[in-house]
Amino acid sequence: MLLIADVRTVRVAVVGAGVALTMACGKAPESGGAASADDSASSEGASSSEPGAPDIPWAEKTFEQRQDYMGLVVLPKMTAVFKEHEADEEVKCQTCHGEDMEQVKFEMPNALYALPAENTFQAAMEYDAEMAKFMSERVVPEMAKLLGMEPFNPETGQGFGCFGCHLKE
Ligand code: HEC
Ligand code: HEC
Repeated sequence: MLLIADVRTVRVAVVGAGVALTMACGKAPESGGAASADDSASSEGASSSEPGAPDIPWAEKTFEQRQDYMGLVVLPKMTAVFKEHEADEEVKCQTCHGEDMEQVKFEMPNALYALPAENTFQAAMEYDAEMAKFMSERVVPEMAKLLGMEPFNPETGQGFGCFGCHLKE
């Protein structure tokens, strides 16, 4: 276990350095620069003076801005939320993104417990009622807010919900 923990610490440090690196660049060069060859998610004209570009909507952020925003805003906020449920919960990028997050370019959902597509919440309640409640009452609304989205509305089928993070069974 100690070994695994050590490996994780190193990986977090590596990701942390990545965030610091893109932050240090300030306005990332339009073409993505050296750090990441993938700029598929970048959109034209999304420039901001602040790291993570809090003034630019999530959908319009470049990949680098998303990465910085995750590290600077999402991680601290969601750590606080998860600690409401379990005081010693240690939240890392991997907690949501999985251990292979870099290989899959942070695409979500990736590795989190697969929930059934039908009767999702009911099934989750049967599996772990306390967790399911916490997820729907705290995690979904807070994460939706951070992404500037509405929480999932079962009547319209729209919004950010369980499948923003969890795989479908
Ligand atoms: C509480 C869960 C959670 C944590 C912790 C988290 N993320 Fe995310 N991240 C998400 C979700 C959900 C999305 C997808 C949002 C959407 O629907 O577009 C995402 C998207 C991203 C994206 C954009 C991917 C793309 O294709 O545009 C990047 C980059 C990213 N995260 C990096 C990070 C990094 C780096 C960390 C740690 C500093 C981190 N995330 C921590 C939930 C999380
Ligand atoms: C922002 C990302 C995110 C969203 C949205 C989310 N979850 Fe989760 N969920 C997690 C994370 C991260 C864990 C693992 C927590 C841990 O390891 O302590 C988890 C764990 C769970 C578990 C326990 C799984 C296990 O292996 O024991 C259940 C059940 C669950 N979630 C249900 C739901 C339901 C139902 C919804 C929608 C109402 C939902 N989640 C929405 C991130 C999310």
